[in-house]
Amino acid sequence: MYNKKIIQHFTNPKFFGKIKNPDAVGNAGNPRCGDLLTLYLKVDNPPANKTKKITDIRFQTLGCASAIAASDMICELAKGKTLDKALKISFKDVSKSLGVLPPLKIHCAQLVTEALRDAIGKYKKLSG
Ligand code: FES
Repeated sequence: MYNKKIIQHFTNPKFFGKIKNPDAVGNAGNPRCGDLLTLYLKVDNPPANKTKKITDIRFQTLGCASAIAASDMICELAKGKTLDKALKISFKDVSKSLGVLPPLKIHCAQLVTEALRDAIGKYKKLSG
C-alpha cells in the first residue's frame, strides 16, 4: 500500500518535533479518523521591502503513517518559501511529492495543508 518514499518519511521524518517560541502554530484534525496535527513555524524578519520567509518548521502528528509522511513532506516543501508561496502548496503537491498517496489516504495530505494554512493565517493576523 505504501511506496518507499512514504515509508522513508514515516520512519525517519526530518521535521518531527516542536519549535521553542514559534512565530505561529497551526492545527488541523480529521474527526472521522481522529488524526491530529500541529505545525510550528518560524518566520524571518526582513527589511520592509522584502517578503517574509519560513525559516523553520516542525510538526507533531498523532496519526497514521500517511499523515506523518505528509506532515514531514509539507515541512520540506514549505521551508524557505515565502508565506504566500507556502500558502499555494496544495494537497496534490504533497501527495505527488510522496510519489502519490493511496486514494484512501488523500485526506491525510489535505489535513497537513489545512494545518499550514492555519499557521500562516494566524501569523498574518498577529503580525498585521
Ligand atoms: S487516516 Fe486520517 S489523516 Fe491519516
